[in-house]
Amino acid sequence: MASFELNGREVTVDLPDDTPLLWVLRDDLRLTGTKFGCGVAQCGACTVMLNGMTRRSCVTPLSMVEGGFVTTIEGMEGPEYDAVQAAWGALDVPQCGWCQSGQVMSATALLLEVRQPSDADIDNAMAGNICRCATYVRIRKAIHDAADQLEG
Ligand code: FES
Ligand code: FES
Repeated sequence: MASFELNGREVTVDLPDDTPLLWVLRDDLRLTGTKFGCGVAQCGACTVMLNGMTRRSCVTPLSMVEGGFVTTIEGMEGPEYDAVQAAWGALDVPQCGWCQSGQVMSATALLLEVRQPSDADIDNAMAGNICRCATYVRIRKAIHDAADQLEG
């Protein structure tokens, strides 16, 4: 069992402590924007924010979120997220879309830390987010465009 804040509301889930947060989100709480890719912290599809930091929810046990706050793609807001969303749309970044909520979470987290990231900053920050459709060039361009929007 664990109680935590999820996208601004208190939730309590009665599941074993070692249940991965991704399972809790998708199967129990029906928030399916967060995706399952590899299940072993290698692809980034399951990225959420836990206490303001990106986390791979597939390897985050429920016990770790007790008393904390979790944000999923459904609960994202703020200027950085808005800029990322706008740039993603303008450049038609997604292809199949499966990896994209994780990409958007990581891109937003990067812009919260670095206002004008270099290519190297972007490559470092996004290295853990795999895209099987290889949308990497558009992702990098969209992050630059989102940064420019925030500056303007
Ligand atoms: S599903 Fe969690 S990192 Fe791949
Ligand atoms: S858009 Fe298809 S896996 Fe990234």
